[in-house]
Amino acid sequence: MKIGLIGCGRMGSALIGGIAKSDITTPADITVYDLNADSVTTLVQDSGVSAASNNLDLTCKSQTILLAVKPQYIGEVLREIAPAITKDHLLISIAAGVTMEKMETACPAGTRIIRAMPNTPALIGLGATGIAPGSHATEQDIKTARELLESVGIVSVTQEPQLDAVTGLSGSGPAYVYTFIESLSLQAQKEGLALDEAIKLATQTVIGAARMVEQTDMTPRELVEQVTSPGGTTLAGLDALTEHGFEKSIAAGVHAASERSREIARES
Ligand SMILES: NC(=O)c1ccc[n+]([C@@H]2O[C@H](COP(=O)([O-])OP(=O)(O)OC[C@H]3O[C@@H](n4cnc5c(N)ncnc54)[C@H](OP(=O)(O)O)[C@@H]3O)[C@@H](O)[C@H]2O)c1
Repeated sequence: MKIGLIGCGRMGSALIGGIAKSDITTPADITVYDLNADSVTTLVQDSGVSAASNNLDLTCKSQTILLAVKPQYIGEVLREIAPAITKDHLLISIAAGVTMEKMETACPAGTRIIRAMPNTPALIGLGATGIAPGSHATEQDIKTARELLESVGIVSVTQEPQLDAVTGLSGSGPAYVYTFIESLSLQAQKEGLALDEAIKLATQTVIGAARMVEQTDMTPRELVEQVTSPGGTTLAGLDALTEHGFEKSIAAGVHAASERSREIARES
């Protein structure tokens, strides 16, 4: 599979790093381009991929093109590559908030496009990505996008309207979890622990609890019940969390981020 990457920033480089190491393709079949020559050089040196001389050259050399520039530059990139897009191309865009309608309008009729919403843990191979097909994308295109993005984590296939909810959950989610770890640690410090030890314990607690959800066949609610005994410490903690609006705060956060994602898509 001939793969091209336009935009070798943090996210694009992480994706290509994962793809180059996977058995989907070989680095020799990957071409990259970025306006910033230093980013290209670093990626070429780190991953053994080749550099294209510009976006049009990259399009001619690739069948599957990952678009990883900032959302405001997607229109400009599509205008640049549109003359070289053929029926053999598949475009996969990770640009937040750039709608399928906008991209399909900027491309030749019938262009196959997939929209993806990864998150930053993709940088360490633990991403959670939602993907949605455009109106001309095939089942094989969804399979291709899934395989490529699975090289940096897990992938959930959905439809475009649901990508806003993906953004509100896993896209923005790492920041909620960082805030959670920070809050746990700061209070544990007030209760007497050294801050660095508290951060270590809080982080491992989040990893361990997440693994329990992943590796047992219990629901999160069943796991809560399993660790909560009448009159115990966990129940006291949970009651205080509910009293202070914990669940409602999280719901409001996911809703606000999903709404903001819908707004950005309307504005773009
Ligand atoms: N970071 C995240 O958590 C995250 C999560 C989900 C989705 N995304 C999406 O991922 C995309 C990339 O994000 P990022 O954080 O990796 O951005 P980034 O670090 O800014 O990387 C984008 C790169 O594209 C280059 N570029 C700009 N215009 C170009 C053009 N016309 N042709 C070729 N290259 C061009 C930029 O060069 P210059 O620096 O010279 O402009 C930059 O090196 C964004 O659309 C974002 O919405 C990011």
